[in-house]
Parts: sequence; structure tokens; C-alpha cells
Amino acid sequence: MAAPWVLVLLVAWPGAPGAAAQESLLNVCMDAKHHKTEPGPEGELFGQCSLWKDNACCTANTSVEAHLDQSYLYSFNWDHCGVMPAKCKRHFIQDTCLYECSPNLGPWIEEADTSWRRQRVLHVPLCREDCEQWWEDCQDTFTCKVNWHKGWNWTSGTNRCPQGSQCRRFAAVFGSAAALCEQVWSHSYRYTEYERGSGRCIQLWWDPAEGNPNVAVARFYALGAAPPGPPRPPVPALLGLLLPVLRGVL
Ligand SMILES: *[C@@H]1O[C@H](CO)[C@@H](O)[C@H](O)[C@H]1NC(C)=O
Ligand SMILES: *[C@@H]1O[C@H](CO)[C@@H](O)[C@H](O)[C@H]1NC(C)=O
Repeated sequence: MAAPWVLVLLVAWPGAPGAAAQESLLNVCMDAKHHKTEPGPEGELFGQCSLWKDNACCTANTSVEAHLDQSYLYSFNWDHCGVMPAKCKRHFIQDTCLYECSPNLGPWIEEADTSWRRQRVLHVPLCREDCEQWWEDCQDTFTCKVNWHKGWNWTSGTNRCPQGSQCRRFAAVFGSAAALCEQVWSHSYRYTEYERGSGRCIQLWWDPAEGNPNVAVARFYALGAAPPGPPRPPVPALLGLLLPVLRGVL
């Protein structure tokens, strides 16, 4: 049995061999319906999506379409229970911009076995304020469904409420901010208590003068929370240190 401190040494080393693989979670686009294959600068992105113009997974065309009702992107009808007020809709537009444009969702990309996309995101940790503002601004909005990914009647070419469902206020349908953010897109988001600027949650909105805060958040989750520190000794040096120790133990 190895001395406990040898195990500590082995376990505490922050993933040197895995680091290269983890880097691949940074700065990537998911393999979905409209995403570019790789992120890159876009001269102009429209409206609310312009936050991502320096490095985006969306094209200018997608950024315009993200602002349209029943756009060619998904033919999704926000107004399925009467007109969605603009102050609510802007959150869904921002959510569309993040989904289509963000190159910082790599740690949460999962395979999705659906006809229209090969990958999706799951449990993206959303900043508390972004979720709560979304919830507050949608209090006067009506919907008939909790999960907007599934269960619509698409026979008319756009999503209609399924037979037997009722249009009710968001408060009655979802019940809480967390339920809205987590359930509306089948757990693409996870509600968190982390605050904007904490570096621990993904922001839907930010001040363009400050640059994209989600770059550091993706890095935090992809690299297992390793803070930027002094360079680590190369792996052979590490083995050189460990081998004599292991030999002594075995
Ligand atoms: C975006 O591209 C699609 C497909 O080529 C096209 O139908 C649509 O009109 C374009 N939208 C804009 C705003 O240019
Ligand atoms: C779907 O909507 C059409 C009308 O657009 C209706 O005739 C049909 O009964 C609906 N089907 C379901 C399952 O709700």
C-alpha cells in the first residue's frame, strides 16, 4: 500500500496529461443547425447579437434572423399565446444570440440524437441576475407549455399550442425563475446562485466595453478550476520525481 502522501501527490497534480484535451473545450462551436464550424470574427452582427462580433459561432445572417418572429432559423413562434411583450422577447432573443453565437459553451456541449442537430448544450450555469431579470420581464407573458423544445403542434409549419393545453401566465406555468431558465429549453441552462462578474457563471448580457466575460468562465470549467499560475514542470520532469518515490514504495 502506497504511503498516503504519495497518493496525495498523484491526485493533487492538476491534470497535466488531460490539459490538452480540456483545451479543446475552449473556443469551439457546437455541431448544430446554423453554427459555423469554427468561431471567428464577424465584421457586423445585428442588434443584441453584436456582443459576439469579435469572435462568434454565428453568421451575420443568423444574427439578423435571431431577432425576427418565425425566422427561418427554427420557424419558432414566440406569440403562441398572444403577442409576447418586447421586454420579455428581448431575453429570448439574447438567449438565441448566446446559443447561436457563443464560442464559450464547450464545457457543456453534449451529443444530441435529433434530426435537426448533432450536438446541444446541457446545464450551462447561468448567472442568477440574468435568469431573474428574464423571469421578471416575462411576468405579463402567456404560454401553454413548460418545455418549448417538444410537444408542439407543428402541422401548420410553426409551433401552436397542443390540443388540451391552456395559455396561462409564466408565473402559473413555470412557478419560478429557476424553473423558467432550466425547463424552457429542456435543461440547456442550470440556474445558479453565482452573480454576474463572479467568473463562475455564463452571462447572457454584458457591457461591450468590458469584453466577453464568458471566455474566463469556460476556461474555469474546462480546466477544472486551475487558476493561471507559474508554468508547471514538464511531464518527464514530474515522472523523474515520482519514479524514485514509487520504486521505494513498491
Ligand atoms: C438568411 O439566409 C437564408 C438562407 O439562405 C435566407 O432565406 C434569408 O433570407 C437570409 N436572411 C437575411 C436577413 O438575410
Ligand atoms: C394540430 O393543429 C391542427 C390545426 O392547425 C388541428 O387540426 C389538429 O387537430 C392539431 N393536432 C393536435 C394533436 O393538436
